[in-house]
Amino acid sequence: MDLSDIQHFISERTAGFLKRGTHQLLIDGEWVSAANGATFETRNPATEKVIAKVAAAGAEDIDRAVRAARKAFEEGPWSGMRPVERERLILRLADLVEEHAQALAEIESIDNGKAVAIARAVDLAMTVDFLRYMAGWATKIEGSTQEHSVPYALKAEFVTYTRREAVGVVGAIVPWNFPLMVAVWKLGPALAAGCTVVLKPAEQTPLSALYLGELIREAGFPPGVVNIVTGDGLGAGAPLARHPGVNKISFTGSTEVGKLIGHASVDNMTRFTLELGGKSPVIVLDDCDPEAAAAGAANAIFFNHGQVCCAGSRLYVHKKMYERVVGEIGKIADRMTLGSGFDASAQMGPLVSQEQLDRVCSYIEAGRASGAEIVAGGERQPGAGYFVRPTVLANVSQNARVVQEEIFGPVLTALPYDSIEEVAAWANDSPYGLGASIWSNNLSKVHRLIPKIKAGTVWVNCHSALDPSMPFGGYKQSGIGRDLGRNALDAYLETKSVFIAV
Ligand code: NAI
Ligand code: MG
Repeated sequence: MDLSDIQHFISERTAGFLKRGTHQLLIDGEWVSAANGATFETRNPATEKVIAKVAAAGAEDIDRAVRAARKAFEEGPWSGMRPVERERLILRLADLVEEHAQALAEIESIDNGKAVAIARAVDLAMTVDFLRYMAGWATKIEGSTQEHSVPYALKAEFVTYTRREAVGVVGAIVPWNFPLMVAVWKLGPALAAGCTVVLKPAEQTPLSALYLGELIREAGFPPGVVNIVTGDGLGAGAPLARHPGVNKISFTGSTEVGKLIGHASVDNMTRFTLELGGKSPVIVLDDCDPEAAAAGAANAIFFNHGQVCCAGSRLYVHKKMYERVVGEIGKIADRMTLGSGFDASAQMGPLVSQEQLDRVCSYIEAGRASGAEIVAGGERQPGAGYFVRPTVLANVSQNARVVQEEIFGPVLTALPYDSIEEVAAWANDSPYGLGASIWSNNLSKVHRLIPKIKAGTVWVNCHSALDPSMPFGGYKQSGIGRDLGRNALDAYLETKSVFIAV
């Protein structure tokens, strides 16, 4: 691999990892090539250069990984471990991730394009904290005992109680926008619950999961508890989703693929949770300080280059300050400099791939064609790398494609509104319902609006804030179920009712 353009920026650990050149699958505790020897390339989106070759798993490899996970779940040392032993292993993994945070942040930056500093401050911080949060749940899984009233045996004696049991083998299919963090959103509760896992990272960003695989081995998880299979959606994701040996699928990605996974899961009665797309509204009420609202709205859309499922991509501003707020956001966008994740002066990096670049540019063209005013950006940045200028499209109509469809890039649409009723209706006029933010200090208006918004998370005077203990997921086409918090743990547990006649 040619690392000449990044070797001055990266730590020894990162260099050592990338020098492997070709990376393998983690199955049953061993690094192995794909059965048919296939590999694929992963690129640095800032330079478009190939940075690594990675094994391309196919159906045969998925089957081996699921069998290894099954064996570890039913027979291995993992199956006999006490909750406190699982807790200690997860905590050890959190310590190792923390110790290797710089290397992991660098790898995330090289593979995904995000800034190293952001990867450390957000992705790695959340990964470590969430592992620790979930580790604690391992020892707090509780059933209940109850008084019995069996209607046709009121005179008989029973002992009745419920047990929470690990659901079994989990297939985790994750996207490329927060590759390590979202992988751990699945791994954390699965391991706390006592499940075993087959993890499939996105083909655009396989590297941080593979680095994590090494740390999972070092932490001392028994073989087969976590298996990592790299490959694309059709070759590796689909065989995992339809494998009858999988008990639960946890997916984050597009609504389109989420539906395919849901259908495949129902065929086997595999449990599933889906965290899907979004088109989250940012609602600026008339009492706001326009500059503060503009800064918040800009961050809501441009963070992670707009590649955030809950990105604030639809801006609604009260008409009395619309021009002012939109103008301010335009100025912020114009001032932003674009560069690689190693360029500390850059405020935004490249999109993840040529495919996403083409997709985002085609939406900008659709916006232009539908008569939107381009307040800022509106084009890609010339030269190498998948860079798109932060873009603000004003005076779009509520039913335009750019307002209705998820773009997943640094593209904001802006509309003025008249009344609270109107903006609540527009906010909900979307197939999605992942998040929404309200910007106001008028408590009464804010509290009246919150229950009206059909979204899994409502932020007030902030956007995209996440906490390990706060459930995250969508209404409507944004998904089924919740990641994070106690709700996440529940999705990896079955409930067994026990009646003992005594
Ligand atoms: P995708 O949904 O195709 O990919 C997400 C994951 O699913 C990847 O690991 C992929 O390999 C896997 N996958 C793809 N097809 C599959 C199949 N048939 N069966 C099983 N697994 C499959 O998303 P993609 O194509 O990378 O991005 C397209 C759009 O999806 C984005 O522009 C964005 O709108 C949305 N998206 C939303 C995300 C979110 O966080 N909610 C994350 C990534 C993409
Ligand atoms: Mg896809």
